[in-house]
Amino acid sequence: MALFPIRRFGDPVLRLPASPVLEIDDAVQRLVAEMVETMYGAPGVGLAAPQIGVSRSVIVFDAQDDRGARVLINPEVVETGGEYEYDEGCLSVPGYYWPITRPGFAHVRGLGLDGRETDYSGDGLLGRVLQHEIDHLHGILLIERLDKKTRKQALRSLRNDALGLEK
Ligand code: NI
Repeated sequence: MALFPIRRFGDPVLRLPASPVLEIDDAVQRLVAEMVETMYGAPGVGLAAPQIGVSRSVIVFDAQDDRGARVLINPEVVETGGEYEYDEGCLSVPGYYWPITRPGFAHVRGLGLDGRETDYSGDGLLGRVLQHEIDHLHGILLIERLDKKTRKQALRSLRNDALGLEK
């Protein structure tokens, strides 16, 4: 199965809210398989469908525990708690990491590939990756989670980088 090119910062598909999946059909099964392969190929710990140009509400992730790759369809954040800062990156903004403050704990709910309601909750990498990938489904990139000053600097670096200038 071919790896899909990952859409980069600046691609309009990353800004669109993703459409909910109404039926888990063969196309969705295939999309999930392609997303998992693309995530591992990157390599990364999470991927949202818009990152391969498909504006549908699907995320895959591997929280580097013993459970391997997991999928959530139409995921929503049910509850969050606490707060913690973590150097976060994104496959759509390669080579950059910024300290981003988010809730430490997240409980999310969506559907599994079998169509059953599935919940995940946790802190650490799991809580972080779930929140980051669900942000993608709302057209939100990690840059928008930065404070104003850091965001300005980040955007300047990204623009310079795009022009081939120094960061
Ligand atoms: Ni990302």
